[in-house]
Amino acid sequence: MKYQSKEEKLNYLAALNAEALLGGGAARIEAQHKKGKLTARERIELLLDEGSFEELGKFVRHRSHDFGLDKQRILGDGVVTGYGKINGRLVYVFSQDFTVFGGSLSEAYAEKIVRIMDLAMKNGAPVIGLNDSGGARIQEGIVSLGGYADIFYRNTRASGVVPQISAIMGPCAGGAVYSPAITDFIMMVEGTSYMFVTGPNVVKTVTQEDVTSEELGGAQTHATKSGVSHFSCANEVECIKNIRKLLSYIPQNCEETPPAVAYEANDESRPELDAIVPENPNQPYDMREVINGVVDAGSFMEVHKDFAQSIVVGFARLAGKSIGIVANQPQAFAGVLGINSSKKGARFVRFCDSFNIPLLVFEDVPGFLPGTEQEWNAIITNGAKLLYAFSEATVPRITVITRKAYGGAYDVMNSKHIGADMNYAWPSAEVAVMGAKGAAEIIFRKEIAQADDPEAKLAEKVEEYTRKFANPYLAAERGYVDEVIVPSETRAKLITAFAMLQNKVDTLPRKKHGNIPL
Ligand code: HXC
Repeated sequence: MKYQSKEEKLNYLAALNAEALLGGGAARIEAQHKKGKLTARERIELLLDEGSFEELGKFVRHRSHDFGLDKQRILGDGVVTGYGKINGRLVYVFSQDFTVFGGSLSEAYAEKIVRIMDLAMKNGAPVIGLNDSGGARIQEGIVSLGGYADIFYRNTRASGVVPQISAIMGPCAGGAVYSPAITDFIMMVEGTSYMFVTGPNVVKTVTQEDVTSEELGGAQTHATKSGVSHFSCANEVECIKNIRKLLSYIPQNCEETPPAVAYEANDESRPELDAIVPENPNQPYDMREVINGVVDAGSFMEVHKDFAQSIVVGFARLAGKSIGIVANQPQAFAGVLGINSSKKGARFVRFCDSFNIPLLVFEDVPGFLPGTEQEWNAIITNGAKLLYAFSEATVPRITVITRKAYGGAYDVMNSKHIGADMNYAWPSAEVAVMGAKGAAEIIFRKEIAQADDPEAKLAEKVEEYTRKFANPYLAAERGYVDEVIVPSETRAKLITAFAMLQNKVDTLPRKKHGNIPL
């Protein structure tokens, strides 16, 4: 064979590079665009700081021969992998290319993902997966399954070490769903993405149910019904913006503290907070108003917004520093704790604790949700998740009781007994074993029944119980509450308290790992 000249070698490299950029070819790229979807490379361009992407494995090809695959050895093999920067910080990324065998995962493709996950672990930076794939490459058979398992294993090993974020931007079906499921956050694009273990055809065969892909596993379904997804995004651009924003609250790995933005001390009083809690203890209000009133303006990024709405969780900044917020939401089912809200809260608490993000809890909770549906579906086990997650968290933790802190839910919502560092209460707080009416009905049952006017008697006893117990002062006497504060001073108090706690050191007893009630 004739030696190539230097120029020919350079031309050959340039031709290979150009070919790789085309993925599955112009026609399939056009088909992708027609579906309202971007290509794998366009997504990376949008995600990363301009010009920062360094691709790895661009010339990787599969090694299969069956079913004519040896005649279709496309450069890159259906996934674009590498590293780059988001707001100047290192991230690793893989982006599945639907134009190449429907983005399906082969042995070589899995090896590319594994490589960047290993690099991310060694170098301590987040992994972002942009998913758009028909699942296992059917022609390859079990080596594809092996590849998936190699990824699942690394997802698990990386959990709590580096943040992992999954965006679902097309199909994600079968066992393929389990990689995103292990990652910390899932974002889905409305209308073009879906996730399910078994698709509509199998569902029809097995259960005779008629269901579309969208109903079964679209963005809305997973944002509202299953809670599998944490963010439902109107389109791909919004989804990518959300990833960039989310990372701004999170450290690069578990050894780092979260990034902070510059903040100049100012007048921290917030008079509008004084007016939020209604006089009538049974009247709802929006806890988001409290959150937004306390944290740095515009900094609250809600997570799992449309799922289990009786609890609100999300990231924010307080005096420029990242915090995680967990708050009961009186506006939805009176802020009661149910199975889903407990799971939602617990998962968020554990994420924050893994990555050194201090926790701020706003509490207005009437208790756990009663009923056979809740009991039979294990509110006991699921409620315990939240209790366990708080108890185990070693980050700085502060609670503000805005109104109700009743019963077991008082203990669970980051009480000092389970390791909270500080507990504040507003004058409207009611720290009690249960609501006044329920309490009066039980302890004065006979007296009420025997009264000439039982209703008036009940009202009198409710009033008596309320005066005695429905306030924060008995808890303050015991030191369960550190200070009863005026709502407008909450922000100032919290800034000072979190600053006091910033060097907190707390460790768990030596163990292999705990056994959270799953
Ligand atoms: C190989 C695949 C493929 C796959 C799609 N393609 N999925 N090639 N393996 N899994 C190819 C198609 O042949 C087609 O090639 C191109 O990708 C685009 O696919 P279309 O069907 O034309 O696209 P669309 O109509 O948008 O439908 C997308 C789809 C459908 C819904 C994803 O392709 C589909 O149902 N694919 C099969 C899904 C599946 O059953 N996967 C395996 C599941 S088992 P051409 O050359 O025509 O462009 C699994 C196990 C994982 O994943 C277990 C992990 C533990």
